[in-house]
Amino acid sequence: MKKIQISPSILSADFSQLGNEIKRLEKAGADMIHVDVMDGHFVPNLTIGPPVIKALKKHSSIMFDVHLMISPVHNYIEAYAEAGADIITIHPEATADLSSSILKVKKLKKKVGISLNPETKTDVIYNFLDKIDLVLIMSVNPGFGGQKFMPEVLDKVKELKRIQKEKNLDFDIEIDGGINFDNSKSAIQAGVNILVSGTTIFKSNNGDIKKNIELLKSK
Ligand code: DX5
Ligand code: ZN
Repeated sequence: MKKIQISPSILSADFSQLGNEIKRLEKAGADMIHVDVMDGHFVPNLTIGPPVIKALKKHSSIMFDVHLMISPVHNYIEAYAEAGADIITIHPEATADLSSSILKVKKLKKKVGISLNPETKTDVIYNFLDKIDLVLIMSVNPGFGGQKFMPEVLDKVKELKRIQKEKNLDFDIEIDGGINFDNSKSAIQAGVNILVSGTTIFKSNNGDIKKNIELLKSK
């Protein structure tokens, strides 16, 4: 079984202190940093772009797990790779040609992830599973932090786990949205090995992020 990893979403961090927030997460034992990039078009919210990622990356050594919620995504991939993204995750609905977008990330020597919205079926990525590093299962509709977890998406995690075994594949399964200390366990049991969390990490236990990371990891 893969090691359970935590990818805190900086969407819930103090935006006036982002550099320090990332240092704090690194110290607290985060395995990577989840960066939610939103364009006000693919999702109804707007966050940060390549210059901010570049500035943050310069002062940290932790992996940047960049979740692109932008459309059309294809022509922006390079900018995020250059800014310092280590994992680049895209939504199939945000590109006209998923195959060439995957290839583009690969050519830039970055890990490539594909994200499935709650209503998107696994069929969409079935033929790409041997070409990608990660599947990001959305457990809320993308756009905002602090939403309620949708337990039904765990069926897709189980299905992906089954396909993974059948085809002898090794991609990571990450979950994103509404993760808390209760549902983290069911997600891990279903087969998730990377948990994204914003609200729970930054707001639970009076913002004790070290404790919150440890609690999310415990099975
Ligand atoms: C939602 C984002 C998530 C979200 C996670 O569109 O992709 O990363 O911010 O935050 P919480 O843990 O608050 O749901
Ligand atoms: Zn995200």
